[in-house]
Amino acid sequence: MLPDGLKPIGVFDSGVGGLTVLKELVLAFPHENFIYLGDTARLPYGNKSASTIFKYLMQNIDFLLRQNVKAVVVACNSASSALLSIDHNDLPVPIYNVIEPGAALALSLSATKRIGVIGTASTVYQESYLRTLRNLDPETQVFQQACPLLVPLIEEGWLDDPLTNLVVHRYLQPLMAHDIDTLIMGCTHYPLLKKSIQKTTGPNVHLVHAAEAIAQSIFQDMTSQRLMRSPQSNDGQVHLLTTDSHRRFTQVASRIMAPLPIGQIEHVDI
Ligand code: DGL
Repeated sequence: MLPDGLKPIGVFDSGVGGLTVLKELVLAFPHENFIYLGDTARLPYGNKSASTIFKYLMQNIDFLLRQNVKAVVVACNSASSALLSIDHNDLPVPIYNVIEPGAALALSLSATKRIGVIGTASTVYQESYLRTLRNLDPETQVFQQACPLLVPLIEEGWLDDPLTNLVVHRYLQPLMAHDIDTLIMGCTHYPLLKKSIQKTTGPNVHLVHAAEAIAQSIFQDMTSQRLMRSPQSNDGQVHLLTTDSHRRFTQVASRIMAPLPIGQIEHVDI
């Protein structure tokens, strides 16, 4: 049995997107061990129904608990939206979602309280950002746009590509017409298109990625000892798992995690 501090932190997403969160966490907590699950066999989540995504969420949490994790980071907005619909206080470890920290960060950055949200169809139709932002500040004006074509382009590794730029431009144009000053990248895949997104929004729109804010919540929980930290002597290990062995996953994952090494990727069944 591992001592509590040395147990890994579990992180999951449908594919490579959650690696944008994992990377921030590894950099913020170099002594922690991490297990990352990319549920590539069932990707994309974002165009599936809320009840299907909920089922995947619970199966992934259950799988990670069986790997003896001390916390789970749901590094997927579509699954985080499903998580917000349940009371998860009875789960044995802390569970972190990306929606609440992302919404709070957006509000702290926005001067005009005109906030855009881009996400998968599921995240947008479940209105989880809309509700969370309005709960935090009822005056906030929220403009949403589903961008279902972006995840396949990113999984394909077309991160800096004229076609991707065109699609990004097409999706963002209606939001820009609403004069937003902050844009929540409400899918963990989208920070990989940050350059392209910022090109369309111009430099004056704040782009929000929740990863930094999640690191902050984890740090607070470690300080209050809700979550045990790894000892400073531990050289943190990162273990990547996928539910479908995919050559492309390895290529894109090493690009995202660079300069951090990604090691051997293991195939698992949930
Ligand atoms: N990266 C995920 C999200 O944040 C989902 C992508 C997908 O599987 O559709 O919503």
